[in-house]
Amino acid sequence: MDDLEQVWGKVDEYIKDKLMAKDDVLEQTLIKNKQAGLPEIDVSPAQGKLLYLLAKTKGAKRILEIGTLGGYSTIWLARALESGGELMTLEAVSHHAETAQQNIDRAGLAERVTILQGKALDTLSQLKEQDTLPFDLIFIDADKPNNPQYLKWALHFSKKGTVIIADNVVRNGAVLHASDQDERVKGTREFFDLLKQESRIEATAIQTVGEKGYDGFIYGIVK
Ligand code: SAH
Ligand code: DHB
Ligand code: MG
Repeated sequence: MDDLEQVWGKVDEYIKDKLMAKDDVLEQTLIKNKQAGLPEIDVSPAQGKLLYLLAKTKGAKRILEIGTLGGYSTIWLARALESGGELMTLEAVSHHAETAQQNIDRAGLAERVTILQGKALDTLSQLKEQDTLPFDLIFIDADKPNNPQYLKWALHFSKKGTVIIADNVVRNGAVLHASDQDERVKGTREFFDLLKQESRIEATAIQTVGEKGYDGFIYGIVK
């Protein structure tokens, strides 16, 4: 880790210290995830709180998350739901889904959160068959090669004003590598290409640094 990355991490600690109340539930979630051997690729506390604030700004009653892991971002988002609201989160790996369920139970959010286990492309088409209502906010944070498909699904489950957020769209600048054969980079670039030609959504991308390194997210609103 170079000096600069160390500073990014320390500044994230500073932000957490100043702006985030001590939170046993969220801290326990990260501890349990680590004990369960999950990869440490959850959003950072500062990013989690941003998701929470964006969902609150939106007044979200229905949230869809693609990519649960241990439920860290899920808990942030679910806490922002308006009363009577619900969150659905999609996770392919059963061990991740089970760990997330325990964390969500401990957070007291079991009534508002449903984890759908299975490959997201399968569960999304099942949701379509069940005539699932549109969502107010959709957070895309699963396997990056499928991001173009997830954007199409997100638009399917949107209405006017739906917020669509996608994580990890910069990846240390890898997004610039046009000839990269890495499926994740290809997925991200196709996601941007789709956004460029898609007239139904207005979007921007913001580059970020912090304890999770140099990355970025897309923020869009459906017209
Ligand atoms: N949103 C989480 C991090 C998600 S990491 C947080 O910030 O706390 C990405 C997750 O997507 C992993 O748990 C991985 O198992 C899951 N995933 C990968 N491929 C998937 C697929 N095809 N369908 C659903 N989930 C998938
Ligand atoms: C990966 C996935 C993520 O959602 C993330 O935030 C970081 C890394 C990954 O698949 O490597
Ligand atoms: Mg992510």
